[in-house]
Amino acid sequence: MRSRDVPQTADIAQFPVARPRRLRRTAALRRMVAGTRLHPAELILPVFVKEDITEPQPIGSMPGVVQHTRDSLRKAVHEAAEAGVGGVILFGIPAVKDARGSAADDPDGIVQVALRDLAADVGDELVLMTDTCLDEYTDHGHCGLLTETGEVDNDATLERYASAAVAQARAGSQVIAPSGMMDGQVGAIRAALDAEGFTDIPIMAYSAKYASGFYGPFREAAECAPQFGDRNAYQQDPAGSADEALREVRLDLAEGADIVMVKPALAYLDILSQVRDLVEVPVAAYQVSGEYAMVEAAAANGWIDRERIIMESLLAIRRAGADLILTYWATEVARGLS
Ligand code: PBG
Repeated sequence: MRSRDVPQTADIAQFPVARPRRLRRTAALRRMVAGTRLHPAELILPVFVKEDITEPQPIGSMPGVVQHTRDSLRKAVHEAAEAGVGGVILFGIPAVKDARGSAADDPDGIVQVALRDLAADVGDELVLMTDTCLDEYTDHGHCGLLTETGEVDNDATLERYASAAVAQARAGSQVIAPSGMMDGQVGAIRAALDAEGFTDIPIMAYSAKYASGFYGPFREAAECAPQFGDRNAYQQDPAGSADEALREVRLDLAEGADIVMVKPALAYLDILSQVRDLVEVPVAAYQVSGEYAMVEAAAANGWIDRERIIMESLLAIRRAGADLILTYWATEVARGLS
């Protein structure tokens, strides 16, 4: 019982016998007793690749992150592998978007083409993962197909996700990561992958994904801001209960998820910690674009110590229960750790 170790007020008033500071005295002591550590292999780098561009395009709200060409992507992923990063997750921006997100499952779509490049280059050195969703591919910017009244049609969308996941697996994706928050998406994708012989390809489910303001810069990066409305009817309400998140996680596990994710990270550490207690599979947390942009912007103004805050936030996410962390700083941090 922990409470028995706690000295009574009377003892403390006399003399501090218990001195937690003893273990903080030197850097070597602190390093030895630090219970939370980061390792490059548990970091996953999200990358953007855009069709039909000849130079990488900077993303204004994410200084240091670019929309890659196929060539610059190869270079960036090679560097991530060299640094020991565990995996990369690909997001594609097609040259042409339409209502059904046709480029998502086109064998010659940008993500599929980029995957084939990477599978040949570094497919054995780090894990090639793909975000499976429609928002980067639809002209309306929603994560699924729309009904005539402009709502996202859950069940019709599942067929598109299944088809996109199979196209990604065929092109060399080693982990499929559905992020659209449609009910039944993990089960639909699992069934489709299995039917096509991809029984060995794991699913990393964005299980507890919130309708978050922290995705703002990503929508510039992936050119996928909804053209009308918002994502509140499918992503979780930030005001929702933790039980809602845990239910989503349980459902995804029942449908066959191999890894579950909480997103965003820093504002949802309570959810992350509860998910960690609930499950026996690896738990991922996504430190999203807005988390990145806030730190970069404040640091550019000289208001915070950039490196210190990057490490502190990653350690907090790790301590709350993340086995894997998706972060735009993955390569930089991995280099610093090795
Ligand atoms: C959906 C998706 C989004 C992000 C990852 N996958 C955008 C959204 O849900 O609106 C956001 C990631 C970030 O903000 O860094 N395909």
